[in-house]
Amino acid sequence: MTLDTVACIEDLRRLAHRRVPADVMGYYESGSYSERTLHANLRDLANINIRQRVLAGAANRNLRQTILGEKSRLPFALAPVGMSGLAYRDGEIRAARAAAKAGIPYTLSTLSICSIEDVAAAVTQPFWFQLYFMKDRGFVADLIARARAAKCSALVLTVDLQVLGQRHRDIHSGLSVPPRLRLRTIANTLSKPGWIANVLMGKRKSFGNVQGRIAGTEGLASYRDWIASQFDQALSWDDVAWVRKQWPGKLIIKGILDVEDARLAVQTGASAIVVSNHGGRQLDGAVSSISMLPRIVDAVGSDIEIMFDGGIRSGQDVFRALALGAKSCLIGRAYLYGLCAAGEAGVSKAIDIIAKELDVTMALAGVRTIDAITPNTLET
Ligand code: FNR
Repeated sequence: MTLDTVACIEDLRRLAHRRVPADVMGYYESGSYSERTLHANLRDLANINIRQRVLAGAANRNLRQTILGEKSRLPFALAPVGMSGLAYRDGEIRAARAAAKAGIPYTLSTLSICSIEDVAAAVTQPFWFQLYFMKDRGFVADLIARARAAKCSALVLTVDLQVLGQRHRDIHSGLSVPPRLRLRTIANTLSKPGWIANVLMGKRKSFGNVQGRIAGTEGLASYRDWIASQFDQALSWDDVAWVRKQWPGKLIIKGILDVEDARLAVQTGASAIVVSNHGGRQLDGAVSSISMLPRIVDAVGSDIEIMFDGGIRSGQDVFRALALGAKSCLIGRAYLYGLCAAGEAGVSKAIDIIAKELDVTMALAGVRTIDAITPNTLET
C-alpha cells in the first residue's frame, strides 16, 4: 500500500506500523492499564447512529467553523501529541505545516521533540501551545513567556496528567528518549531502515522544550520518574487562576470529563474546555469522552466553548461529536498515524480523509453547514 492507495485512517495506521518500530508505535497506540477506556472511546462513538435524510437540498456544503473566534477551514484541530518527533524527523514541524496548509489549528505539546522556537521559525501560521504544569512555577512562567514570544494564538492547559497512567506496553518495550538501538529491540528496529535514516540519524531527538530539566532521561522508566518528580500533583483551580493571569490570551482547559469540573472551569474565565480522557491514556475505568459530552454540553454549553477529543478516526466520528454539541474536535492518533506513515504528506492525507468523510456524511444526512449538525441529525 502507498499513500495514493490509502482509503481511510485504518490504512494509515497499517502503513505506520510498517514504517515505525514497534516500541514507538506501542507508545503511540497504547492506553493505560487494561485499555478499557481507550476501547470505550472508539466503541461508544461507533455506536452512535446518524440519520439518513434524502432530497434535503444538501448541495454546496460548507465545512468552515469558527474556533475560539478564528476562522478554521474545518471543524477540527490537531491535538497535542508528545514525542511526535519520534514518528518522523522534525515531526512537530511537519504536522504544523500540514495543519497550516489545511487552514486548521495545530497544538504543540510541552513534551515535543521540536521546541516552541523551532516550530515558530518553521511555520508562519500561529499555533497553539499545550502546557503541562510543573512544580517549578518559574519554569512554567518561562514556558508561557516562550509561547507568548512565539505568538502562539492559544494556550492549552492539560489538567488530567499530574500523575502518569501506566501503559503496560511502554514497560514491556523499554522505549527510550532519545531513541537508541538496543539489543532487545534491534531486530525490530533494523527492519525499519526508513525510520532509522529519518529519525535515528536525525538531529533533534530529545525533548526540545524541557531540555536541561530532563537530564539523565534515557528510558521511559526514567521519563515516568521525571514526571513524578517535576509534575505538581497538588495542582488546583488556584493554579489555573495563576495561569490565567500569566496568559491573558485564549486559554483552553483540556481534560474535563465531569460536569462539576466543567462548571469550575467556566468560573476560571477560560475560553474553552476540551472534553477528554487523554485518549484513554490516563484514568482507566473512566467513561468514554463521547458519553460525557452531552451532559457537559447541557450543563455549560451556553457558558463556554466546548471542544471534544477521544477516539475520532473518521469524518463520521467528527459529525457525531458535533451533533452531540461540540463546537470543534481535536484529533490525536488519527493524524499521528499519517505522520508515522509519511511525514507531512501523511498528516495532510489524514486531514483530507476526515474532511472528505465529513463532507459526504453531511450530504447523506441532509445538512449543508456545521451549525446544522445538531442532535436532530442523530437517530436515537
Ligand atoms: C497524547 N495526548 C497528549 N495530550 C496532551 O495534552 N499533551 C501531550 O503531550 C499528549 N501526548 C500524547 C501522546 C500520544 C502518543 C497520544 C496518543 C496522545 C492526548 C491527545 O492530546 C488527545 O487528547 C488524544 O490523543 C485524543 O484521543 P485520540 O484522538 O488519539 O483517540
